[in-house]
Formats: sequence, structure tokens, C-alpha cells
Amino acid sequence: MSKEKTKAVLNQSVADLSKAAALVHQVHWYLRGPGFMKLHPKMDELMDGLNSHLDVLSERLITIGGSPVSTLKEFDELSKIELETATWDKTTEERLTEVVKAYKYLSDLFQDGVHATDEEDDDVTNGLFADAKGDIEKTIWMLESELGVAPGL
Ligand SMILES: [Fe+2]
Repeated sequence: MSKEKTKAVLNQSVADLSKAAALVHQVHWYLRGPGFMKLHPKMDELMDGLNSHLDVLSERLITIGGSPVSTLKEFDELSKIELETATWDKTTEERLTEVVKAYKYLSDLFQDGVHATDEEDDDVTNGLFADAKGDIEKTIWMLESELGVAPGL
């Protein structure tokens, strides 16, 4: 079985996780204000998590016969996550809200992966998407708690 839908969601995930890591790196660098000492290292933790999912999903794609996108140009063209040139005028709340938005997009994407893998009988990739989605949702809860709102999943 060619698993074309599964491969497509995996490659989308490779592009989006790469761009999400760049977004979180931007927040890590451009934070300024109350909470910096706590949130600056927290963004390092989030990047580690994203890069871990990136490597796992990319290598699964190769394992099932696919070819992950791997250049900055491909990441940028394929990813649907927004990332603009940084400025110093955003509040910490605005920056964290951008991260939450990207994480909610990833959660929906991984749900697409769960559906595609169900349809194409790929239980292993299904488990990887479910695990990644669980981790992303937990992070959404934590970020939204920091922002003072309930997780809107
Ligand atoms: Fe750093």
C-alpha cells in the first residue's frame, strides 16, 4: 500500500514543525518584559519538543518509503504557520498567543494524520501522531494557563 495520504500529512508535519521551531526560537530571542527569566528557557524546552517530533515523524516518513522536505525554502513554501520578521513592539502575551495559534494548528494537523493513518491502516504512524498530538495539547493547556485562559481545544 502506498500510504499517500499518510506520507502527505507526515511531510506537511515536517515543514510545519520546522517552521514552528523557528517561531518559538523567535519568541525565545525577542521576549522582553516580566516573565522573561522563566519564559526564555521555557521556549528552549518547547523547541526541543518540536524538534523531537520533527525527527520522529521525518524518519517514519522515510521508513514507509517517503522523502521528507529538508530545505528552508521547502519548509517555508509548504508550511501554513505564519512567521514574520520580528519587531520589538509585541507584548509577551501577543508572542505566547502566536505560539498557541501555531500549536493549535499542529494539533489539528496531527488529527488529520490520525485519520489518514486509520484510513490507510498504518497503526505505527497512527500512534506517533496520537503521541505528538497529546504532547502538543498539553503544551497548549500550559501556555493558555500562563495567559489566564482555559484551553480552547
Ligand atoms: Fe538561547
